Amino acid sequence: MLTSLRYLAGTAGPSGFGSRTTAEEATAAAGDLGHVTAIITGATSGIGAETARVLAKRGARLVLPARSLKAAEEARARLVGECPGAVVVVLPLDLSSLASVRRFVQRFLGLGIPLNLLINNAGKYADRFAVSEDGVEMTFATNYLGHFLLTRLLLEKMAETARETGVEGRIVNVSSTIHSWFSGEDAVAYLDRVTRRKIPYDPTRAYALSKLANVLHTRALAERLREMNANVTANCVHPGIVRTRLIRDRDGLITNTVFFLASKLLKTIPQAAATTCYVAVHPAVAGVSGKYFADCNEASPSRLGASGDEASRLWTFSDAITAEKVQKTSVVRATAGGFQLHQVQC
Ligand SMILES: NC(=O)c1ccc[n+]([C@@H]2O[C@H](COP(=O)([O-])OP(=O)(O)OC[C@H]3O[C@@H](n4cnc5c(N)ncnc54)[C@H](OP(=O)(O)O)[C@@H]3O)[C@@H](O)[C@H]2O)c1
Repeated sequence: MLTSLRYLAGTAGPSGFGSRTTAEEATAAAGDLGHVTAIITGATSGIGAETARVLAKRGARLVLPARSLKAAEEARARLVGECPGAVVVVLPLDLSSLASVRRFVQRFLGLGIPLNLLINNAGKYADRFAVSEDGVEMTFATNYLGHFLLTRLLLEKMAETARETGVEGRIVNVSSTIHSWFSGEDAVAYLDRVTRRKIPYDPTRAYALSKLANVLHTRALAERLREMNANVTANCVHPGIVRTRLIRDRDGLITNTVFFLASKLLKTIPQAAATTCYVAVHPAVAGVSGKYFADCNEASPSRLGASGDEASRLWTFSDAITAEKVQKTSVVRATAGGFQLHQVQC
Protein backbone atom coordinates (compact mmCIF):
# COMPACT_ATOMS: atom_id res chain seq x y z
CA MET A 1 0.00 0.00 0.00
CA LEU A 2 2.75 2.42 1.07
CA THR A 3 4.80 1.38 -1.99
CA SER A 4 1.86 2.13 -4.31
CA LEU A 5 1.32 5.56 -2.73
CA ARG A 6 5.02 6.38 -3.06
CA TYR A 7 4.88 5.28 -6.69
CA LEU A 8 1.82 7.43 -7.46
CA ALA A 9 3.25 10.44 -5.67
CA GLY A 10 6.67 9.94 -7.23
CA THR A 11 8.24 10.23 -3.78
CA ALA A 12 12.02 9.94 -3.84
CA GLY A 13 13.56 6.84 -2.26
CA PRO A 14 17.00 6.52 -0.60
CA SER A 15 18.74 7.21 -3.94
CA GLY A 16 17.05 10.61 -4.14
CA PHE A 17 15.04 9.46 -7.16
CA GLY A 18 11.58 7.97 -7.59
CA SER A 19 9.00 6.79 -10.10
CA ARG A 20 8.76 10.16 -11.85
CA THR A 21 12.52 10.60 -12.35
CA THR A 22 13.53 10.78 -16.01
CA ALA A 23 16.58 9.17 -17.58
CA GLU A 24 18.16 12.60 -18.09
CA GLU A 25 17.74 13.41 -14.39
CA ALA A 26 19.06 10.01 -13.31
CA THR A 27 22.26 10.45 -15.33
CA ALA A 28 23.10 14.08 -14.53
CA ALA A 29 25.56 13.07 -11.78
CA ALA A 30 27.47 10.76 -14.14
CA GLY A 31 29.04 13.69 -15.97
CA ASP A 32 30.63 13.26 -19.37
CA LEU A 33 30.53 9.65 -20.62
CA GLY A 34 33.02 10.19 -23.45
CA HIS A 35 35.17 7.36 -22.05
CA VAL A 36 32.31 4.85 -22.17
CA THR A 37 31.40 2.39 -24.95
CA ALA A 38 27.98 0.78 -24.56
CA ILE A 39 26.07 -1.97 -26.31
CA ILE A 40 22.30 -1.48 -25.96
CA THR A 41 19.99 -4.18 -27.34
CA GLY A 42 16.51 -3.21 -28.49
CA ALA A 43 17.38 0.46 -29.02
CA THR A 44 15.22 0.84 -32.12
CA SER A 45 12.16 1.74 -30.06
CA GLY A 46 10.64 2.32 -26.63
CA ILE A 47 12.76 2.22 -23.50
CA GLY A 48 15.93 1.17 -25.34
CA ALA A 49 15.68 4.10 -27.77
CA GLU A 50 15.40 6.56 -24.89
CA THR A 51 18.26 4.87 -23.03
CA ALA A 52 20.41 5.26 -26.16
CA ARG A 53 19.38 8.88 -26.63
CA VAL A 54 20.30 9.87 -23.08
CA LEU A 55 23.61 7.99 -23.04
CA ALA A 56 24.55 9.47 -26.44
CA LYS A 57 23.65 12.92 -25.13
CA ARG A 58 26.08 12.35 -22.25
CA GLY A 59 28.79 11.45 -24.77
CA ALA A 60 28.86 7.63 -24.69
CA ARG A 61 29.89 5.74 -27.84
CA LEU A 62 27.06 3.36 -28.76
CA VAL A 63 26.84 0.03 -30.50
CA LEU A 64 23.25 -0.74 -31.47
CA PRO A 65 22.54 -4.34 -32.46
CA ALA A 66 19.21 -4.84 -34.23
CA ARG A 67 17.41 -7.46 -36.26
CA SER A 68 16.27 -4.76 -38.69
CA LEU A 69 19.23 -2.76 -39.98
CA LYS A 70 16.81 -0.26 -41.53
CA ALA A 71 15.23 0.42 -38.11
CA ALA A 72 18.69 0.65 -36.55
CA GLU A 73 19.92 3.10 -39.21
CA GLU A 74 16.83 5.23 -38.54
CA ALA A 75 17.60 5.12 -34.81
CA ARG A 76 21.19 6.12 -35.56
CA ALA A 77 20.03 9.03 -37.73
CA ARG A 78 17.74 10.26 -34.93
CA LEU A 79 20.58 10.06 -32.40
CA VAL A 80 23.09 11.84 -34.59
CA GLY A 81 20.43 14.45 -35.47
CA GLU A 82 19.94 15.23 -31.79
CA CYS A 83 23.56 14.76 -30.68
CA PRO A 84 25.82 15.85 -33.55
CA GLY A 85 29.17 14.10 -33.24
CA ALA A 86 27.64 11.07 -31.52
CA VAL A 87 29.44 7.85 -32.43
CA VAL A 88 26.84 5.17 -33.14
CA VAL A 89 27.69 1.81 -34.71
CA VAL A 90 24.91 -0.39 -36.03
CA LEU A 91 25.28 -4.18 -36.32
CA PRO A 92 22.84 -6.99 -37.16
CA LEU A 93 21.57 -9.18 -34.33
CA ASP A 94 18.53 -11.38 -33.91
CA LEU A 95 18.50 -12.39 -30.27
CA SER A 96 16.21 -15.34 -30.91
CA SER A 97 19.02 -17.04 -32.86
CA LEU A 98 22.13 -18.30 -31.09
CA ALA A 99 24.01 -18.33 -34.42
CA SER A 100 23.12 -14.65 -34.92
CA VAL A 101 24.38 -13.84 -31.41
CA ARG A 102 27.70 -15.56 -32.21
CA ARG A 103 28.02 -13.66 -35.52
CA PHE A 104 27.28 -10.35 -33.76
CA VAL A 105 29.95 -10.96 -31.12
CA GLN A 106 32.49 -11.92 -33.78
CA ARG A 107 31.76 -8.69 -35.70
CA PHE A 108 31.84 -6.59 -32.53
CA LEU A 109 35.14 -8.06 -31.33
CA GLY A 110 36.50 -7.48 -34.83
CA LEU A 111 35.99 -3.73 -34.35
CA GLY A 112 38.69 -3.79 -31.67
CA ILE A 113 36.93 -1.26 -29.46
CA PRO A 114 36.49 -1.47 -25.67
CA LEU A 115 33.26 -2.43 -23.91
CA ASN A 116 32.26 -0.78 -20.65
CA LEU A 117 28.51 -1.16 -20.63
CA LEU A 118 26.16 -3.92 -21.78
CA ILE A 119 22.46 -3.13 -21.57
CA ASN A 120 20.35 -6.21 -22.25
CA ASN A 121 17.10 -4.40 -22.96
CA ALA A 122 15.48 -6.01 -26.02
CA GLY A 123 12.31 -7.93 -25.37
CA LYS A 124 9.08 -9.22 -26.78
CA TYR A 125 5.64 -10.25 -25.61
CA ALA A 126 4.36 -12.81 -28.08
CA ASP A 127 0.65 -13.53 -28.31
CA ARG A 128 1.22 -16.51 -30.56
CA PHE A 129 3.28 -19.60 -29.78
CA ALA A 130 6.50 -20.04 -31.74
CA VAL A 131 9.73 -21.97 -31.37
CA SER A 132 13.13 -20.45 -32.18
CA GLU A 133 15.46 -21.96 -34.77
CA ASP A 134 17.34 -23.51 -31.82
CA GLY A 135 14.23 -25.34 -30.63
CA VAL A 136 13.27 -23.15 -27.66
CA GLU A 137 10.01 -21.30 -26.96
CA MET A 138 10.42 -17.92 -28.68
CA THR A 139 9.81 -15.49 -25.78
CA PHE A 140 12.35 -17.29 -23.60
CA ALA A 141 14.78 -17.54 -26.53
CA THR A 142 14.57 -13.81 -27.29
CA ASN A 143 14.24 -12.20 -23.88
CA TYR A 144 16.64 -14.43 -22.01
CA LEU A 145 18.63 -17.10 -23.85
CA GLY A 146 20.03 -14.78 -26.55
CA HIS A 147 21.06 -12.29 -23.88
CA PHE A 148 22.61 -15.07 -21.79
CA LEU A 149 24.86 -16.12 -24.66
CA LEU A 150 25.59 -12.52 -25.70
CA THR A 151 26.71 -11.69 -22.17
CA ARG A 152 28.77 -14.84 -21.78
CA LEU A 153 30.63 -14.21 -25.02
CA LEU A 154 31.32 -10.58 -24.08
CA LEU A 155 32.35 -11.15 -20.44
CA GLU A 156 36.07 -11.48 -21.12
CA LYS A 157 36.04 -8.33 -23.27
CA MET A 158 34.31 -6.39 -20.50
CA ALA A 159 36.70 -7.68 -17.83
CA GLU A 160 39.65 -6.78 -20.05
CA THR A 161 38.34 -3.25 -20.71
CA ALA A 162 37.81 -2.69 -16.99
CA ARG A 163 41.32 -3.98 -16.24
CA GLU A 164 42.97 -1.79 -18.86
CA THR A 165 41.02 1.41 -18.17
CA GLY A 166 40.41 1.12 -14.44
CA VAL A 167 36.76 1.99 -15.17
CA GLU A 168 34.15 -0.32 -13.66
CA GLY A 169 32.17 -2.23 -16.29
CA ARG A 170 28.44 -2.65 -15.82
CA ILE A 171 25.84 -5.06 -17.16
CA VAL A 172 22.17 -4.13 -16.88
CA ASN A 173 19.45 -6.70 -17.54
CA VAL A 174 16.02 -5.23 -18.19
CA SER A 175 13.50 -7.47 -16.43
CA SER A 176 10.00 -6.65 -15.19
CA THR A 177 7.97 -6.82 -11.99
CA ILE A 178 5.96 -9.41 -13.92
CA HIS A 179 8.79 -11.87 -13.18
CA SER A 180 6.98 -12.46 -9.86
CA TRP A 181 3.95 -13.85 -11.71
CA PHE A 182 5.91 -17.01 -12.41
CA SER A 183 5.95 -19.19 -9.29
CA GLY A 184 5.01 -22.57 -7.94
CA GLU A 185 6.65 -24.54 -10.75
CA ASP A 186 10.10 -25.61 -11.90
CA ALA A 187 11.13 -23.06 -14.54
CA VAL A 188 13.01 -25.42 -16.84
CA ALA A 189 10.39 -28.16 -16.57
CA TYR A 190 7.76 -25.59 -17.57
CA LEU A 191 9.90 -24.39 -20.48
CA ASP A 192 10.31 -27.97 -21.65
CA ARG A 193 6.56 -28.67 -21.51
CA VAL A 194 5.55 -25.46 -23.22
CA THR A 195 8.22 -25.85 -25.93
CA ARG A 196 7.00 -29.38 -26.71
CA ARG A 197 3.35 -28.24 -26.62
CA LYS A 198 2.54 -30.57 -23.75
CA ILE A 199 0.63 -27.70 -22.15
CA PRO A 200 -1.24 -24.81 -23.77
CA TYR A 201 0.80 -21.68 -24.50
CA ASP A 202 0.02 -18.80 -22.13
CA PRO A 203 1.73 -15.62 -23.42
CA THR A 204 1.74 -13.89 -20.03
CA ARG A 205 3.23 -16.91 -18.25
CA ALA A 206 5.86 -17.30 -20.99
CA TYR A 207 6.74 -13.60 -20.67
CA ALA A 208 6.85 -13.83 -16.84
CA LEU A 209 9.20 -16.82 -17.05
CA SER A 210 11.55 -14.98 -19.41
CA LYS A 211 11.64 -11.99 -17.06
CA LEU A 212 12.26 -14.26 -14.06
CA ALA A 213 15.15 -15.73 -16.03
CA ASN A 214 16.56 -12.18 -16.44
CA VAL A 215 16.52 -11.79 -12.64
CA LEU A 216 18.11 -15.19 -11.99
CA HIS A 217 20.69 -14.57 -14.70
CA THR A 218 21.72 -11.37 -12.93
CA ARG A 219 22.22 -13.15 -9.66
CA ALA A 220 24.33 -15.97 -11.10
CA LEU A 221 26.25 -13.56 -13.32
CA ALA A 222 27.19 -11.34 -10.39
CA GLU A 223 28.53 -14.42 -8.64
CA ARG A 224 30.51 -15.44 -11.73
CA LEU A 225 31.99 -11.94 -12.07
CA ARG A 226 33.09 -12.05 -8.42
CA GLU A 227 34.78 -15.43 -9.00
CA MET A 228 36.52 -13.96 -12.07
CA ASN A 229 37.65 -11.04 -9.89
CA ALA A 230 36.40 -8.79 -12.70
CA ASN A 231 35.77 -5.11 -12.08
CA VAL A 232 32.35 -5.54 -13.69
CA THR A 233 28.94 -5.51 -12.00
CA ALA A 234 25.60 -7.00 -13.04
CA ASN A 235 22.20 -5.74 -11.95
CA CYS A 236 18.65 -5.96 -13.23
CA VAL A 237 15.79 -3.49 -13.35
CA HIS A 238 12.04 -3.18 -13.59
CA PRO A 239 11.55 -0.08 -15.76
CA GLY A 240 7.91 0.53 -14.78
CA ILE A 241 4.86 0.13 -16.98
CA VAL A 242 4.72 2.26 -20.12
CA ARG A 243 2.97 1.95 -23.44
CA THR A 244 5.51 0.94 -26.09
CA ARG A 245 5.53 -1.44 -29.06
CA LEU A 246 6.05 -4.34 -26.62
CA ILE A 247 2.41 -5.38 -26.79
CA ARG A 248 2.03 -4.64 -30.50
CA ASP A 249 0.34 -8.05 -30.95
CA ARG A 250 -2.47 -6.76 -28.75
CA ASP A 251 -3.07 -3.35 -30.30
CA GLY A 252 -6.78 -2.56 -30.50
CA LEU A 253 -9.75 -1.11 -28.70
CA ILE A 254 -9.50 -3.26 -25.55
CA THR A 255 -5.81 -2.46 -25.07
CA ASN A 256 -6.44 1.24 -25.74
CA THR A 257 -9.20 1.25 -23.12
CA VAL A 258 -7.08 -0.56 -20.51
CA PHE A 259 -4.19 1.85 -21.05
CA PHE A 260 -6.55 4.82 -20.90
CA LEU A 261 -8.06 3.63 -17.61
CA ALA A 262 -4.63 2.88 -16.15
CA SER A 263 -3.04 6.07 -17.42
CA LYS A 264 -2.34 7.45 -13.94
CA LEU A 265 -0.28 4.35 -13.14
CA LEU A 266 1.84 4.50 -16.27
CA LYS A 267 5.25 6.04 -16.76
CA THR A 268 6.35 8.10 -19.71
CA ILE A 269 9.16 6.62 -21.82
CA PRO A 270 11.78 9.04 -20.35
CA GLN A 271 10.68 7.89 -16.86
CA ALA A 272 10.75 4.22 -17.89
CA ALA A 273 14.35 4.53 -19.10
CA ALA A 274 15.46 6.16 -15.84
CA THR A 275 16.19 3.04 -13.78
CA THR A 276 18.23 1.41 -16.55
CA CYS A 277 20.27 4.59 -17.00
CA TYR A 278 20.67 5.10 -13.25
CA VAL A 279 22.00 1.58 -12.72
CA ALA A 280 24.19 1.87 -15.84
CA VAL A 281 26.06 5.06 -14.99
CA HIS A 282 25.21 6.67 -11.64
CA PRO A 283 28.22 6.88 -9.29
CA ALA A 284 26.09 5.73 -6.31
CA VAL A 285 25.73 2.29 -7.90
CA ALA A 286 29.50 1.68 -8.09
CA GLY A 287 30.39 -1.75 -6.71
CA VAL A 288 26.74 -2.82 -6.33
CA SER A 289 26.14 -6.17 -8.03
CA GLY A 290 23.50 -8.89 -8.21
CA LYS A 291 20.67 -6.56 -7.22
CA TYR A 292 17.19 -5.73 -8.52
CA PHE A 293 16.14 -2.11 -8.97
CA ALA A 294 12.83 -0.33 -9.56
CA ASP A 295 12.17 3.41 -9.71
CA CYS A 296 15.94 4.05 -9.42
CA ASN A 297 16.14 2.34 -6.03
CA GLU A 298 17.13 -1.11 -4.88
CA ALA A 299 14.05 -3.31 -4.54
CA SER A 300 13.24 -6.94 -3.72
CA PRO A 301 12.70 -9.54 -6.41
CA SER A 302 10.22 -12.38 -5.93
CA ARG A 303 11.11 -15.29 -3.63
CA LEU A 304 11.98 -17.43 -6.67
CA GLY A 305 13.97 -14.54 -8.17
CA ALA A 306 16.05 -14.37 -5.00
CA SER A 307 16.84 -18.09 -4.98
CA GLY A 308 20.53 -18.87 -5.39
CA ASP A 309 19.74 -22.53 -6.15
CA GLU A 310 17.32 -21.60 -8.91
CA ALA A 311 19.86 -19.14 -10.34
CA SER A 312 22.61 -21.72 -10.52
CA ARG A 313 20.27 -24.37 -11.98
CA LEU A 314 19.25 -21.95 -14.72
CA TRP A 315 22.88 -21.03 -15.38
CA THR A 316 23.83 -24.71 -15.80
CA PHE A 317 20.89 -25.29 -18.11
CA SER A 318 21.64 -22.17 -20.18
CA ASP A 319 25.30 -23.09 -20.47
CA ALA A 320 24.33 -26.53 -21.77
CA ILE A 321 21.74 -25.38 -24.28
CA THR A 322 23.90 -22.56 -25.70
CA ALA A 323 27.02 -24.69 -26.02
CA GLU A 324 28.28 -24.61 -29.61
CA LYS A 325 28.26 -28.38 -29.99
CA VAL A 326 24.50 -28.62 -29.39
CA GLN A 327 22.71 -29.53 -32.63
CA LYS A 328 19.93 -27.44 -34.07
CA THR A 329 17.61 -30.42 -33.57
CA SER A 330 18.25 -30.76 -29.83
CA VAL A 331 15.83 -29.78 -27.13
CA VAL A 332 16.44 -29.75 -23.45
CA ARG A 333 14.31 -31.95 -21.27
CA ALA A 334 14.11 -31.53 -17.54
CA THR A 335 14.59 -34.73 -15.60
CA ALA A 336 14.22 -35.36 -11.88
CA GLY A 337 17.96 -35.03 -11.43
CA GLY A 338 18.72 -32.14 -13.76
CA PHE A 339 18.69 -31.52 -17.49
CA GLN A 340 19.26 -33.67 -20.52
CA LEU A 341 19.69 -32.82 -24.15
CA HIS A 342 17.72 -35.02 -26.55
CA GLN A 343 17.82 -35.22 -30.31
CA VAL A 344 14.38 -34.79 -31.87
CA GLN A 345 12.99 -35.62 -35.30
CA CYS A 346 12.28 -32.52 -37.37
N1 LIG B 1 6.87 -1.42 -21.73
C1 LIG B 1 6.70 -1.86 -20.49
O1 LIG B 1 5.69 -1.55 -19.82
C2 LIG B 1 7.73 -2.74 -19.87
C3 LIG B 1 7.54 -3.13 -18.52
C4 LIG B 1 8.49 -3.95 -17.93
C5 LIG B 1 9.59 -4.38 -18.64
N2 LIG B 1 9.73 -4.00 -19.96
C6 LIG B 1 10.92 -4.48 -20.68
O2 LIG B 1 11.58 -3.39 -21.27
C7 LIG B 1 12.34 -3.83 -22.40
C8 LIG B 1 12.11 -2.90 -23.57
O3 LIG B 1 10.75 -3.02 -23.99
P1 LIG B 1 9.90 -1.82 -24.61
O4 LIG B 1 8.70 -1.68 -23.77
O5 LIG B 1 10.75 -0.66 -24.89
O6 LIG B 1 9.40 -2.54 -25.96
P2 LIG B 1 9.61 -2.19 -27.52
O7 LIG B 1 9.31 -0.77 -27.78
O8 LIG B 1 8.79 -3.22 -28.24
O9 LIG B 1 11.15 -2.45 -27.75
C9 LIG B 1 11.65 -3.76 -27.80
C10 LIG B 1 12.95 -3.76 -28.55
O10 LIG B 1 13.46 -5.10 -28.59
C11 LIG B 1 13.81 -5.42 -29.92
N3 LIG B 1 13.69 -6.85 -30.21
C12 LIG B 1 12.60 -7.63 -30.12
N4 LIG B 1 12.88 -8.88 -30.54
C13 LIG B 1 14.19 -8.88 -30.91
C14 LIG B 1 15.08 -9.85 -31.42
N5 LIG B 1 14.66 -11.11 -31.69
N6 LIG B 1 16.35 -9.51 -31.68
C15 LIG B 1 16.79 -8.26 -31.45
N7 LIG B 1 16.00 -7.27 -30.95
C16 LIG B 1 14.71 -7.58 -30.70
C17 LIG B 1 12.81 -4.62 -30.76
O11 LIG B 1 13.30 -4.54 -32.09
P3 LIG B 1 12.33 -4.53 -33.37
O12 LIG B 1 12.21 -3.09 -33.74
O13 LIG B 1 13.08 -5.34 -34.38
O14 LIG B 1 11.04 -5.16 -32.98
C18 LIG B 1 12.81 -3.30 -30.02
O15 LIG B 1 13.92 -2.53 -30.36
C19 LIG B 1 11.89 -5.27 -22.66
O16 LIG B 1 12.86 -6.16 -22.15
C20 LIG B 1 10.60 -5.41 -21.85
O17 LIG B 1 10.37 -6.73 -21.44
C21 LIG B 1 8.83 -3.19 -20.57
